[in-house]
Amino acid sequence: MKVAFFLFATAVAAVANAGGDFLTAVHSRSMRSLEGKWSYIVDPQETGFLDYRHNETTGGYFIDIPVNGYKRLIEHDFDRSAKMQIPGAWNCQDLRTFYYEGVMWFRTKFNYQKCKGRRTRLYFGAVNYESYVYLNGKKLGRHVGGFTPFDYDVTDVLVDGENSLVVKADNRRQISAVPTDIFDWWNWGGITREVLLVDLPDLHMRDVYLQAAKGNLKRLRGEISLSTAVAGEKTTIEIPELGIKAESVTDKTGTARFDIGAEPQPWSPENPKLYKVVFSHGDERVTDEIGFRTIEVVGDEIRLNGKKIFLRGACLHDEAEGAKGRVATRAEAETLIARAKKMNCNFLRLAHYPHHEYTVRAAEKAGIMVWGEIPAYWTISWDNPETLANAKAQLNALIRRDRSRANVIIWSVANETPHSDARDRFLTELVATARRADNTRLVSFAMETVLLEDGTRSLKDNLASLVDVASFNCYMGWYGFRELDAIPKIKWAIPWKKPVIVSEFGGGALAGLHGDEYDYFSEERQAAIYRANLKMYGKIKELSGLAPWILSDFRSPRRNRAQVQDGFNRKGLTDENGREKLAFQVMKSFYAEKAK
Ligand code: GCU
Repeated sequence: MKVAFFLFATAVAAVANAGGDFLTAVHSRSMRSLEGKWSYIVDPQETGFLDYRHNETTGGYFIDIPVNGYKRLIEHDFDRSAKMQIPGAWNCQDLRTFYYEGVMWFRTKFNYQKCKGRRTRLYFGAVNYESYVYLNGKKLGRHVGGFTPFDYDVTDVLVDGENSLVVKADNRRQISAVPTDIFDWWNWGGITREVLLVDLPDLHMRDVYLQAAKGNLKRLRGEISLSTAVAGEKTTIEIPELGIKAESVTDKTGTARFDIGAEPQPWSPENPKLYKVVFSHGDERVTDEIGFRTIEVVGDEIRLNGKKIFLRGACLHDEAEGAKGRVATRAEAETLIARAKKMNCNFLRLAHYPHHEYTVRAAEKAGIMVWGEIPAYWTISWDNPETLANAKAQLNALIRRDRSRANVIIWSVANETPHSDARDRFLTELVATARRADNTRLVSFAMETVLLEDGTRSLKDNLASLVDVASFNCYMGWYGFRELDAIPKIKWAIPWKKPVIVSEFGGGALAGLHGDEYDYFSEERQAAIYRANLKMYGKIKELSGLAPWILSDFRSPRRNRAQVQDGFNRKGLTDENGREKLAFQVMKSFYAEKAK
């Protein structure tokens, strides 16, 4: 009975969190950014949303009336409130909010001239963690999930002239959320990614994508989905450089499917070839830059375009240089990608949640493959149908946003999750969700390791048969096995014929702190940990990739050793400003050899 209820409840909850049918290829559309200084009000008791009887109020902060004089009782005033840069997390913009976890209200005003026969969508790249959005006092909707896009049709809510946009952002952690209430990164709050007004034809292309078919570079498959479920609409995909112009007509759901014969130059780290692809319907054109490649597993090998590859990787958090917030601009994304390239990387594990689309695209242009991930991290509420629906929605949204990106090769559904029947059911659902949404990419998740009786290290996971790549995190020399010279002698036994990625390993160091290999947090010990681990992992014959934890130091409220961590996780191969530690050179040299 319980299982049946669980599945029913999941189905019901899923309707509310389907993952969003937001606009894709949004940056190439006719759009206007609402970036700039927005007014904000810190609201720890949700005074702007709940009345004193805890009911949703009708006269909340979203009613943005000008406060002139003192003839009316008004207790909020955006015009005279402080302002901060949007997009941007609040934590480092107003140091009163550095650790703040609660509700923050934001308001911007903009002039708009409506245009007959056109529609306008209001698009958010991400708001962490929950948001309510109001336009001219009207609630547009609620979104949950701190790292994925969502949008609203505002055509009939906009007015000619000045419009008031109010956003209620709430970054409170919740045990039933995704991620749950404990995680090793900073709880950057607010409107962390772009806010765009997108101008569209009345009937428009909501979603466009194109990718090489699974295992076949000579078949390009994609779809154009219209904003209305209307059949018979002619749509076109053109790739001028390949002399391709393909047509397809929408079905009754408003989707046109394409299966195009082509001979593209394959995308690869060595030749990150992108093609201009033009999606058309009527007078509407949406252009994207798309690469084509195949990615598959054959036995214990990962093969890109049919050739075995080794993933020279690193893990990365979505935190801009200087750790003052999340990546919000193309330049900030390019800075992180340049750092990975300097270490001779061809792969990045974008941990532990969907990163900015700018980062994925910057990696693609630079020839860096990517592991995309949702924050089903540590001890999720595995039995909660709402939690599962939320995780599915975030996974569907990540895949919807990035499925045209050739460099995305792996979808990851979890990180370091403890074994249980409920966890197995939950992750089985997530793997199935990933396969349904996109059967062309590999699926994995970061498992934990086991110690066998004879001292050999191995992996154990009931769900191993579901994934294409066996990935695991292990910190020899940091959290365990402190004697570094014993590490290279450790044996590993991989119990399945699958490629293996070490999805996390390493140790910490404070940049500039020097000592010997026995001194935790010295650069020398960190470098010695890397040398020892590389020798050990190099003996795993199925080894197909390495993702050291982590490219750069990042903020975490769990790391509180004064004058060493000071609220930073110091396992970076560079510090938060890109200052390279000795271990950076160890990985750079190792990867230079691997690249030969
Ligand atoms: C874990 C976890 C990371 C964390 C790291 C650490 O493996 O996946 O998110 O930051 O270990 O302890 O530094």
